[in-house]
Amino acid sequence: MSEENKKIVFSGIQPTGGFTLGNYLGAIRNWGPLQNEYDCIYSIVDLHSLTVRQDPATLRRQIRESAAMLLACGVDPEKSILFIQGDVHQHAELSWILSCYTQFGELSRMTQFKDKSKKHPENVNGGLFTYPVLMAADILLYQTDLVPIGADQKQHLELSRDIAIRFNGIYGDVFTIPEGYFPKVAARIMSLQDPTAKMSKSDANENAKIMLTDDGDAIIRKFKRAVTDSGSEVRAADDKPGVTNLMSIYSAVTGKSFEEIEREFEGKGYGEFKIAVGESVRDTLMPIQEKYRTYLADKDQLNAVLKSGAEHASYIATKTLRKVRRKIGLD
Ligand code: TRP
Repeated sequence: MSEENKKIVFSGIQPTGGFTLGNYLGAIRNWGPLQNEYDCIYSIVDLHSLTVRQDPATLRRQIRESAAMLLACGVDPEKSILFIQGDVHQHAELSWILSCYTQFGELSRMTQFKDKSKKHPENVNGGLFTYPVLMAADILLYQTDLVPIGADQKQHLELSRDIAIRFNGIYGDVFTIPEGYFPKVAARIMSLQDPTAKMSKSDANENAKIMLTDDGDAIIRKFKRAVTDSGSEVRAADDKPGVTNLMSIYSAVTGKSFEEIEREFEGKGYGEFKIAVGESVRDTLMPIQEKYRTYLADKDQLNAVLKSGAEHASYIATKTLRKVRRKIGLD
């Protein structure tokens, strides 16, 4: 990281369940380019994953796989800090402190909490409820200016801001007030089987999602099976959500505009279009997968990157936490 006064970017991603094409096109793909403009801190938020019961061996493996995949997607540890949240204990400590400055009512209004507790009524644990406070701690520990997030995390970021403003109001300027960062071309990728729902890693239907680790044949097969709409014209429209989603993917991957895509496939059917989309995605993911395998195979290098990332993160986090402890009377 540079010594210049660049803005600080922080983002986090959960390691569980692998990454989808939606995660890639909507978020991870931007993490590389952001490094050239900002001081970026990227975290694999393993503690957040504990809100859902995890198999220990699987979680352990997925944390490392996530790190290798982020490197393969362009996160450069020479330019940015890449670390595992649970390696930096300050996150849990600040989270507890901030939870005492967050109201039950505020957390009760979080739509993600309401959705998830409805979906999994058998495990509505305290961590699920205080999830946004841990996220606030992630962000505020690093005096973050900008937080790249998808629309579904806007409410959580808003809460982080409210907590920071409240804390600063009592104790003076302790935290930088973070802002959302929404990339100009934020592709929101929908399920291949139900284009009205977001592509989700937890979808039980394998055909609904493209995983970044899917092999070439699987990618083509899934696109061939993708749900399209009535008619046969490749054209973006509200009543053609399936085709529009495929066009978004093709556009995000090739850089072609919707008009260009419509022209390219004029007079051709959905079949030909779906194969072209599949091939473009396959050709994008194959080189990433090759790098991914290399990073994953070199255990020592991966360990070294994550250790150094945690040390850097911890250094910055300690400074903020010290200030907080002094302000509230713990030190
Ligand atoms: N809650 C975020 C998500 O599920 C992940 C996350 C955790 C995060 N901490 C963060 C994102 C801090 C941005 C900043 O997408």
